[in-house]
Amino acid sequence: MSDTVRIIGIIEDSHDTKTLEFHWDEKALPGQFIMVWVPGMEEIPMSLSKVDRIKSITVKKIGKDTEKLHSLGLGDPMRIRGPYGKGFDLRKSKKMLIVGGGAGAAAVIPAVKETGADTIIGARTDKDIIMDYADRYTKNLWIATDDGSRGFHGNAVQLMKEKASDRKYDMILACGPEIMLYHLYNACVELNIDCQMSLERHMKCGAGVCGCCVIDDMRVCKDGPVFTREQISQMKDFGMLSRDECGRAVKR
Ligand SMILES: Cc1cc2nc3c(=O)[nH]c(=O)nc-3n(C[C@H](O)[C@H](O)[C@H](O)COP(=O)(O)OP(=O)(O)OC[C@H]3O[C@@H](n4cnc5c(N)ncnc54)[C@H](O)[C@@H]3O)c2cc1C
Ligand code: FES
Repeated sequence: MSDTVRIIGIIEDSHDTKTLEFHWDEKALPGQFIMVWVPGMEEIPMSLSKVDRIKSITVKKIGKDTEKLHSLGLGDPMRIRGPYGKGFDLRKSKKMLIVGGGAGAAAVIPAVKETGADTIIGARTDKDIIMDYADRYTKNLWIATDDGSRGFHGNAVQLMKEKASDRKYDMILACGPEIMLYHLYNACVELNIDCQMSLERHMKCGAGVCGCCVIDDMRVCKDGPVFTREQISQMKDFGMLSRDECGRAVKR
């Protein structure tokens, strides 16, 4: 079953990223995603960047389908289904740090809003940063850029290590490129901090049926996209292997 929603707001987050807002009464949790389709594109997964009555997706233009979503205007319809997957468990922690890298920053914003937790947003350069309005929801928003054009000069994992050395975090929540998550996971093991990470794979059904999104024996759409440290510790493919749109293994 899918619903038709109409775009009621468009925010230009950066040179290649836009947020599309829409009314949708369906209940959704921070970290969940939807499948989105309009005529002329394949259906693709998008995390919810707002989970209140007004919801949103934040789309980075990287190919033909995301380009199609970027071409939509106010009032245009989108077919959506979901919400799908397991979101972040926000009850587990006393002192949490949230880390969003690249377009993955959009997926952690609802968790920042709900918890007010300390947050790191990482990007390649100043012009790639999105969601820096998160400072409305948290007292501590730290920015990291690879080229040092804004905030901390370095990546989000280096900044996390620096912050974790003087603040006793007991949980890291994160979404971002898998290479970032791989190093962040290793840092969590080294520092003995629990974590939950939202992972990505190509998806077709989004609902646990087609098997094209597997990491080892887990389906990212149904068993994730948010996985616990314990689950990630069992994954051999994490950070090593991805899958193409037909489900074939591809070396990273
Ligand atoms: C659960 C989930 C949530 C997501 N949330 C967001 C979001 O909030 N915002 C956002 O901008 N994107 C998000 N994505 C990624 C988004 O679905 C893809 O960027 C999109 O499907 C690309 O479609 P395209 O036709 O524009 O690009 P394509 O032409 O399909 O791809 C362009 C390039 O990117 C690669 N690629 C595409 N999708 C993926 C992927 N999932 N993993 C690794 N490489 C990939 C392709 O192999 C190709 O090299 C999410 C993905 C998942 C699985
Ligand atoms: S996308 Fe079909 S099983 Fe996950």
